Amino acid sequence: MTRWHSHAAVAVSLIAGAASQVLDLSTFDWTVSNPDLNVSVPGSLPSQAHLDLYNARVIGDPYYGLNNFNLRWVAFNNWTYTSEPLTGLSSNASATWLVFNGLDTFASIDMCGQHVASTNNQFRQWLFDVSSILSSCSGDPFLSINFGSAPNIAAEIAAEPGQETWPYNVEIGYEIPNRQFIRKEQSDFGWDWGPAFAPAGPWQPAYVVQLPSPGVYVHNSLFDIYREGQLPLLLPNQTAPWVINASLDYVGTAPSNVGLSYTLKDSSNTTVASGALNDVNITDSTMTGMVTLPDGSADLWWPSGLGNQSLYYLTVNAVGAGNSTLASVTKRTAFRTIVLNEFPITDLQLSQGVAPGNNWHFEINGHEFYAKGSNFIPPDAFWPRVTQTRIQQLFDSVIDAHQNMLRVWASGAYSPDFMYDLADEMGILLWSEFEFGDALYPVDADFLENCRQEAYYQVRRNNHHPSLALWAGGNELENLELQTVNNTAPEEFDRYQAEYETLFLDTLGETVFNNTHSISYTPSSTSNGWLSLDFDNVQPITERYYNTTPGSVYGETDFYNYNSSIAFNTSALPVGRFSNEFGYHSMPSVQSWAEAISPDDWYFNSTTVLLRNQHYPPGNLNTSNFYNTSLGMGEMTVAVENWYPVPAKTDSVANFSAWCHATQIFQADFYTFEIEFYRRGSGMPNRQLGSLYWQLEDIWQGPTWAGIEYDGRWKVLHYKAKDIYQNVIITPFLNRTTGDLEVYVTSDLWTPASGSANFSWYSWDGTPLNISTPSEATVNVGAINTTRVLTTNINDSLNNYNLSNVVLQVQTEVQGSPINQNTTQTFTHSNWLAISRLNQANFVDPGLTLSYSNSTAKFTVTATSGVAAWVWLDYGSGAVIAFDDNGFWLAKGESREIGYTTKSDTTNGAWVNGVTVQSMYNQTQPELTLPPIVAAYPNP
Ligand SMILES: *[C@@H]1O[C@H](CO)[C@@H](O)[C@H](O)[C@H]1NC(C)=O
Ligand SMILES: *[C@@H]1O[C@H](CO)[C@@H](O)[C@H](O)[C@H]1NC(C)=O
Ligand SMILES: *[C@@H]1O[C@H](CO)[C@@H](O)[C@H](O)[C@H]1NC(C)=O
Ligand SMILES: *[C@@H]1O[C@H](CO)[C@@H](O)[C@H](O)[C@H]1NC(C)=O
Ligand SMILES: *[C@@H]1O[C@H](CO)[C@@H](O)[C@H](O)[C@H]1NC(C)=O
Ligand SMILES: *[C@@H]1O[C@H](CO)[C@@H](O)[C@H](O)[C@H]1NC(C)=O
Repeated sequence: MTRWHSHAAVAVSLIAGAASQVLDLSTFDWTVSNPDLNVSVPGSLPSQAHLDLYNARVIGDPYYGLNNFNLRWVAFNNWTYTSEPLTGLSSNASATWLVFNGLDTFASIDMCGQHVASTNNQFRQWLFDVSSILSSCSGDPFLSINFGSAPNIAAEIAAEPGQETWPYNVEIGYEIPNRQFIRKEQSDFGWDWGPAFAPAGPWQPAYVVQLPSPGVYVHNSLFDIYREGQLPLLLPNQTAPWVINASLDYVGTAPSNVGLSYTLKDSSNTTVASGALNDVNITDSTMTGMVTLPDGSADLWWPSGLGNQSLYYLTVNAVGAGNSTLASVTKRTAFRTIVLNEFPITDLQLSQGVAPGNNWHFEINGHEFYAKGSNFIPPDAFWPRVTQTRIQQLFDSVIDAHQNMLRVWASGAYSPDFMYDLADEMGILLWSEFEFGDALYPVDADFLENCRQEAYYQVRRNNHHPSLALWAGGNELENLELQTVNNTAPEEFDRYQAEYETLFLDTLGETVFNNTHSISYTPSSTSNGWLSLDFDNVQPITERYYNTTPGSVYGETDFYNYNSSIAFNTSALPVGRFSNEFGYHSMPSVQSWAEAISPDDWYFNSTTVLLRNQHYPPGNLNTSNFYNTSLGMGEMTVAVENWYPVPAKTDSVANFSAWCHATQIFQADFYTFEIEFYRRGSGMPNRQLGSLYWQLEDIWQGPTWAGIEYDGRWKVLHYKAKDIYQNVIITPFLNRTTGDLEVYVTSDLWTPASGSANFSWYSWDGTPLNISTPSEATVNVGAINTTRVLTTNINDSLNNYNLSNVVLQVQTEVQGSPINQNTTQTFTHSNWLAISRLNQANFVDPGLTLSYSNSTAKFTVTATSGVAAWVWLDYGSGAVIAFDDNGFWLAKGESREIGYTTKSDTTNGAWVNGVTVQSMYNQTQPELTLPPIVAAYPNP
């Protein structure tokens, strides 16, 4: 075990000077204890108390059954992390510092029995000078970190005399109240998709740093790469030279004559530029310098699907007398501009048919693009067990589904370095947010300063990542929280709005603008954007709010409607410039349920399933804060009943599986429709340029809005997202009230594409129908645009037909150029529409057959006797597989070969033998063959 790091040149990390030493506290043994409860177990660092208690089997698997409620006592108690004696500390260091990259959240730190400090923010890095404690300590010191109960402390803060209050329902309440008073992951107190464990512990690495004099330890740094003259929110000059601004945050003593130098290497480690940084400023905590790079020294970085992800290593050295290296920092970075364009619609845009108002879209290296993606939530209730492998697997699925942007939602945690690094490599833009959401927050001086320190650390830590697309202040603040105040306490609106601006513009915004030239800021997701910008102020933004003109279009949309009867009406959907959230919940597969709940509970409305549905949340079982647990289940049930045949299987597990699957089909169907509508908007007056659905992935096994289940398994939604986020899509829109049917081709390529579309009508048994509408059309679709290829009214064209027995297949094939490539490629897409709702369809048995070829590692599915809707390949427990395609339709006689990617497999490949195939026809039948499903919870 290597405890001492003499930090020399380490890529993508921070290092101290030659003579300083850094002791990694994860290499010591720790115990976790609570004397009142008579518990003392081995612990680790980084960790959280639940994880260590579970490892020691003091508690069962937190994710099992109703442990979300049963383990609430863990969150209501203190947990003390105590180290073994810290051997090997030097007695002649000039200074000794404790460095914590994160403590969750309320910690009282003692060293050698003496109080060091107390902390109150999960998201700050904490540094404490313990030189004098160490010098008065006899023997090797030990550390003791007493973590308080966040729910109890939040309640105490809320009850302080004179504490801020808000009108009823401004704080959207989940299982544990008062989250807005503390700087801790807000969803730790519950959310509508997850549990409320409120964990505590040293969740990030920690170190003891010993320094000589002079000697410095760089604990954080800011590398800002931008076009000369660039400022956040302004459209950069794409021919201006690149500027590098570097700033090192340090503790220790720097000699007076420190200089800064830099070396820029490409990904093969060839030096492309080096020299001194200029305009160097040294304070007692930062060393800052900048340089304008010689022309042409960098290849651009692009998001996935838009070009290459060219990466560079940038090293900045602090150089003392005689060229000695005092500190050296290397970070991997890249050259790109990314800006959120909220400028007024230009005359040129107006002449192109864009509605007046303002833009609200992203531009990469000066180019508009269509943002395709989803919302990322914490992938686990316990961050210390989120590994790089897990994020890699998740991000592979993001890329598989043609997504180029994730919104890292505002009430979890700031993304770890490895997550940004993976996103940099893979080309996934991360719209990043400060951790505030669905509440208004206090604005007393201490709270604001705490928030300012948090933002300062996080903005500087992450700024160099090319994947960092945006900073947003918080989730649903202007469109939801301020609206609640405006509705319920209009006489106090001005005060609450001013407080909102104090925190989200003057504190968080100002910190962003003070530290970066390259990253845009918006105070709230969702908003109507800025009204004006004035860079004479550090914080330049004046928000528009609802200062709007009818007929004009502004800003983003955030849309939910649980009235599933109008799910497929375009008139119910919002018209904006960008959609950052929309969705509907569904059940996970029975395979996922089997990981977390007992087979006794494998039915739709079992108590355990019901209580794991947090929409609407069951509330804290100890309080009267109850919601209707069956409401969220009811919405899913009614959605299935509204649109699809209702499962009624003879076998109860098969019935549970069919119901779970049916809710996933509604979800996938609805999101596909919404994405089609938003993408179609790229060619409509609202010039819509982004759709990010809610939500990418699950935090646990439960009914949620996710497209990817907790273990990585894809729901129907993720397959449909993969299909509908292709560059070129063809989409039918039927208004079942008026009978109007329109078909559009939409492209997000950056150059025009052309080819053809065709339209084929069938009855369910596969008989072609000779409908009097055109059977084909020429397609010419512009760059990031939409064209209508068929307009008809089914009341006229189908008046001799039984609508329950008519399906339409639309297909397009166009030639176009992939973005940023000088090649031509064929793009094809196919889509289907049942003219009646599927619960009224005259299905026939499509005679699906399934075979597997060992030599090609491909499955073949054939519809032998009819049209097959929502064909679904299912596989058993123990593996996570992504089929190349799933949830598709087949024409009669059509075969499809389907390859797959293995994400994980504990079955030694045996999962292949358990694969089943079904289609919507099977939902109408009593029998359903299931793949092997194994109850696999390790420790109830
Ligand atoms: C619980 O932890 C908090 C925060 O560290 C501390 O202030 C408090 O004294 C602790 N209480 C006990 C009983 O250890
Ligand atoms: C953009 O930068 C180039 C190169 O520095 C300069 O010549 C040009 O004037 C700049 N354009 C504008 C509009 O500032
Ligand atoms: C470049 O150097 C870094 C460390 O400075 C190392 O991690 C990386 O593997 C090197 N890459 C190549 C291609 O040699
Ligand atoms: C150093 O400070 C001066 C004076 O405030 C400022 O003009 C200069 O831009 C600073 N240098 C850097 C690299 O920020
Ligand atoms: C320090 O390094 C720079 C650049 O590497 C070099 O130009 C200079 O001569 C060196 N100075 C000394 C005192 O070695
Ligand atoms: C508050 O409500 C008033 C009256 O309905 C409305 O005019 C105003 O735009 C609202 N303000 C905001 C910021 O929502």
